Amino acid sequence: MKILVTYYSLTGNTRKVAEAIHEALPEPKELKPLSEVAAVTDYALVFVGFPVQSHSVPAKVESFLKSLPAGLKTALFMTHGSISGSRLSREAMEQALVLAGHTRILGTFSCRGKVSPQAMEILGRSPEHELWAEMAVTARNHPDENDLEDARAFARWILSLARQ
Ligand SMILES: Cc1cc2nc3c(=O)[nH]c(=O)nc-3n(C[C@H](O)[C@H](O)[C@H](O)COP(=O)(O)O)c2cc1C
Repeated sequence: MKILVTYYSLTGNTRKVAEAIHEALPEPKELKPLSEVAAVTDYALVFVGFPVQSHSVPAKVESFLKSLPAGLKTALFMTHGSISGSRLSREAMEQALVLAGHTRILGTFSCRGKVSPQAMEILGRSPEHELWAEMAVTARNHPDENDLEDARAFARWILSLARQ
């Protein structure tokens, strides 16, 4: 069963989670940024990762999720600056579940990811981001080793579901 782990990552957090997921999986497997994925027809299982941007799934990920073949086994993972479990962090994943609703989604994983100082500076000026920008401060050490260990456990769990 060939597995693809693909991700979109602006500042590197989602890439770290993608690497941890990839590390926990058996061969044959590939790890690729979304921009390098030409087709997914070769794979029996595809992990797709993205950061929350402006409460949503980034546009490039949105079109990728929509383009996936119906019935393909998938798993979604996400990083976000806001507090885990808050409505703000859940909404983007709910949106992704709808976008990939025609695939066979085996599970989802999310953890916090630090917000770069440049992004904090820009977001701090926008009233739209006020809600979560304050919360983002405590994301500064994430993803940490515990998050990455959770991501590896998620990968193993999804693999066992995919093999059933
Ligand atoms: C332009 C921009 C918008 C963001 N918007 C949100 C948001 O609406 N909600 C949130 O929880 N985090 C938001 N974040 C924080 C990112 O989701 C978080 O830092 C994530 O881990 C970044 O992942 P990356 O390094 O893979 O790009 C935003 C970050 C940026 C740069």
